[in-house]
Amino acid sequence: MPKYDFVSKVLIYVFVMIKHLELQNFRSHRNTKLDFTEGNNILVGISGSGKSSVLDAICFALFGTITKIQRKKIKVSDLVMSKPTKENEAGNRMTHIDELLRLEMFESIRSKATRCANRFRNQEISKKETIASINEKEIRERKTFIEKELKNLEKDNEIIEKELRETQKRIDSLEKDFASLMEKKKKIEKLKENITRLQGLISFYEEELSKHEKFDLSYLKNEYEKKKDLLDQKENGNLKIEKELSSISYRIDELDKDLEEKRQANNFLRQYDSNNFQIVKKDLEKMRKSFFEKKLRKGSINEAINKLKETQGICPICDRELTESKRKDLIESKTAELKKLEEEMRRLDKFLGDKEKELEKEQSEFEKAKYFERRLKELGDVESRLEEQKRKFFEVQSKKEDLRGLKEEVEELKKGYDKALDLKEKEEKLKECKGKEAVLRKIMEEIDFDENRLEKVRSKLEIQKSRKIGLDKDLEFKKDLKEEKKKLFNQLKRDLDFLEMNKREIEFLSHASKTLAKLSNSLIEVQETLREEFVKTLNEVMNEIWNDLYPYEDYIGIRFKIEERDYLLQLCDLKNKWMNVEGFSSGGERAIASLVMRIALSVILAPRLKVLMLDEPTHNLDSNTMEKLIDILKTHISNLIEQLFIVTHDERLIQAGTGYTYEFLRESAKRESTKVNSLTI
Ligand SMILES: Nc1ncnc2c1ncn2[C@@H]1O[C@H](COP(=O)(O)OP(=O)(O)O)[C@@H](O)[C@H]1O
Ligand SMILES: [Mg+2]
Repeated sequence: MPKYDFVSKVLIYVFVMIKHLELQNFRSHRNTKLDFTEGNNILVGISGSGKSSVLDAICFALFGTITKIQRKKIKVSDLVMSKPTKENEAGNRMTHIDELLRLEMFESIRSKATRCANRFRNQEISKKETIASINEKEIRERKTFIEKELKNLEKDNEIIEKELRETQKRIDSLEKDFASLMEKKKKIEKLKENITRLQGLISFYEEELSKHEKFDLSYLKNEYEKKKDLLDQKENGNLKIEKELSSISYRIDELDKDLEEKRQANNFLRQYDSNNFQIVKKDLEKMRKSFFEKKLRKGSINEAINKLKETQGICPICDRELTESKRKDLIESKTAELKKLEEEMRRLDKFLGDKEKELEKEQSEFEKAKYFERRLKELGDVESRLEEQKRKFFEVQSKKEDLRGLKEEVEELKKGYDKALDLKEKEEKLKECKGKEAVLRKIMEEIDFDENRLEKVRSKLEIQKSRKIGLDKDLEFKKDLKEEKKKLFNQLKRDLDFLEMNKREIEFLSHASKTLAKLSNSLIEVQETLREEFVKTLNEVMNEIWNDLYPYEDYIGIRFKIEERDYLLQLCDLKNKWMNVEGFSSGGERAIASLVMRIALSVILAPRLKVLMLDEPTHNLDSNTMEKLIDILKTHISNLIEQLFIVTHDERLIQAGTGYTYEFLRESAKRESTKVNSLTI
């Protein structure tokens, strides 16, 4: 639910005219409902009773704002019913005619145009100052000069580049020549080297061959082969001899061994005594017999001791009575005997061992002697047999001797033949070398090479190369120079462009400021013309209304006069003299004049005016004028306007009413809300 305490509400019903108005919490109105008809609707009441608020409400409802808000005297929130601090702020509504005519629009455009023109002019001046410091003539001269220099440099460079291309061509062709000559030179050097080598070989072979006489190779071969055949044959025979020799020498070796064995056998047998073996044999038998006897004896003593140890009283050997001491003595003497016997046996056993070894040795000596005796018989006369074989060996050996001579002869022949072969080979090689040398010489002669020509080409090439280096340097220098000049040229061009641009801008600024000045003048003219036209029309309408409204004869005309950019409202007296309303006329005259002015303005500014509101139009009017006004309102005005709202504190004006009339009551000191009574019958 909306809270009416904080929100103002104005309801208005408009069908061609305003028929009904409802105010809630609007200024001094808590809840006011009003009906209106066509014709004059009168709102009457004391000051502060809330009459003008009704006119404001209508305005607010129709246009969403009121003049007081537009002029920022109050805010929209001030419309909401509250307890206002300020008392009546009515009156003092000075209307500015230019504002009504929207002529201030021209003025604002004019002042803007002037400002703009001034700004342009300032810019123009500063730009002029800027370009004044630039010496254009000098820049242009320098630019042309550098342009010329650049063209010359371009030409120079083209010449150098052409020269370079030609030099390069010459270098290429000379290099080709040089390379081919160098190749030939290398070839010739290689050939010379080979020829020298061949010459060395030739002189070597010639010297070798000159050392030897002429020879017949086939004869030498023949001789050698004949002897070789003979040698081969003889060597076949020699093989048999060799075999025989080796078998004889084998036999001699065997016989040498036999002879040695015979000598050994004789030596052995000469020293050997065959009795020794028998003697040792007999000694050993004797010793073995004695050892066996002692063994038997030992056994019997042992038995006797054992019996003596077991028995008591009676001697086990002789069955006689035996005392204990005797028994002991007996055991002792027997034991001593046994010990002695054992000692003897040990010694004898050692001797036995030695003897057995001695016998073994003698046995083998004996067998050896037997063997040697048999061998001596078998060998017989070895010495003469050996002699026989040795003699044979020397016989066969002598057969071998003459073969060695033949062999040496064959070897000698072979050597001669090999030498001859070698010389033959050398002869052939000599021939080959000579042939090769001739071929190489021919090849060398065919090569078209001249050392002088090579040197010439070399020096020409060097000259061209150094020329090229010089040209390259020259070109590089000229290019750098050109680059620098170009930079300078561009800078000058930029300076000139800048100058041109500034000139163009100055031209534009000057043109623009002039145009703006013209515009501003025309605006002034238009403004004045419009004002004059308007005032003319306004004056006509005002005079008509004046004649109807003014009840006296003192003033015969009313007009607006434009003076010093101001509007003056004037009245014309009987002497045709125009007097200023302000400061000269009486309060009543001024009230009539301003009423006339307002009605005229309304009629002119809104030709199809439907509603007119007059707030306190009777201020300072005398009763005559009042009557005139009432009459005019009732007759003339209602011809012009469908619906009129008159707000007044003067109850006399109720007579002017043709529509609804309301009485407004309010005790503003108590800050009450407005009460409304309808006075319409
Ligand atoms: N917002 C408001 N709340 C209450 N009263 C207000 C408000 N605004 C103005 N008023 C009062 O309304 C009265 C003004 O009404 P107004 O219509 O000008 O009176 P009139 O035209 O009858 O002289 C003044 O007394 C003023 O104090
Ligand atoms: Mg008022």
